[in-house]
Amino acid sequence: MTTPRVVLPPIALVGAGSMGRAILSGLLSPHVEVTGGVRVTNRNVERAHDFDAEDRVTAFTTGGNPEANREAVAGASIVVIGVKPAMVAEVLDEIADALDPSALVISVAAGITTRAMEAHLPGGHAVIRTMPNTPATVGRAVTGIAGGTRVTPENLDLAVRLFETVGDVLVVEESQIDALGSVSGSGPAYLFYFIEQFVRVAEEQGFTRAQADLMVRGTFRGAIELLDASGETPAELRRRVTSPGGSTERAIAVFDDANLYGIFVAATNAAIARQREMGQA
Ligand SMILES: NC(=O)c1ccc[n+]([C@@H]2O[C@H](COP(=O)([O-])OP(=O)(O)OC[C@H]3O[C@@H](n4cnc5c(N)ncnc54)[C@H](OP(=O)(O)O)[C@@H]3O)[C@@H](O)[C@H]2O)c1
Repeated sequence: MTTPRVVLPPIALVGAGSMGRAILSGLLSPHVEVTGGVRVTNRNVERAHDFDAEDRVTAFTTGGNPEANREAVAGASIVVIGVKPAMVAEVLDEIADALDPSALVISVAAGITTRAMEAHLPGGHAVIRTMPNTPATVGRAVTGIAGGTRVTPENLDLAVRLFETVGDVLVVEESQIDALGSVSGSGPAYLFYFIEQFVRVAEEQGFTRAQADLMVRGTFRGAIELLDASGETPAELRRRVTSPGGSTERAIAVFDDANLYGIFVAATNAAIARQREMGQA
């Protein structure tokens, strides 16, 4: 199956660090064309050389040119803000009057509200807040998207098409973004944590690290692929592995006794509470 072609207007990525580069890798996919190319900015002059081999990318650095961010956003139809949350307001103030009047401003910064961004864009620019996750680096992100008060359906559609270059996208109310972050944002860490524990346990059963890694990763990967391919619910697939009176049933009972559901509720609430604290900081 060929991936449908995606054409996007000129894009500037202000702050091309881990997340910015993950998004960039989606924009440089063979099926994606960014008309006018992608401009990226960083502070460190050395970083510009990371993009030397890519003629679809123009790299700017504020270390080499204090006007870099302003020059990068001039003429861009979409400006993605990829700096750390604490830097967002400063960067918006810096670029506000260099933006094209119709530019759409999209932030990936955790905890920074669209209201806060709009306050730093007196030109009335439309603002979208997003919450991607780290599997973006391999094109398998889940990204939540929420529009501010000035967005049009066309703005949202543009943001969806941009983030679909790195995975799946959900458009949600901004009030749901913190909860989404506690699921898809933090979720990869939960899975890595389970894998760490499971590998430890497998090693304690006498397997080498390599054997334990292979068993655990292969089992998680295989289970997810089975879930996707079968069209069945996880509960049904679990039932099929869990013979009445069998060993898996006994193991699941241990999870139930430990109230795995309750642990998830507590973990999710803790993550949401922290997101909200950071948003108010
Ligand atoms: N990583 C994640 O898993 C993840 C997930 C969801 C959301 N996010 C959000 O993504 C944003 C970036 O996180 P990150 O992990 O990608 O951080 P990062 O790797 O530190 O990237 C930040 C980038 O911004 C650049 N930068 C800083 N100040 C700048 C300025 N004034 N002008 C131009 N560029 C500037 C930095 O350049 P220098 O290196 O040259 O200083 C760096 O490349 C954060 O707001 C975070 O909340 C991250």
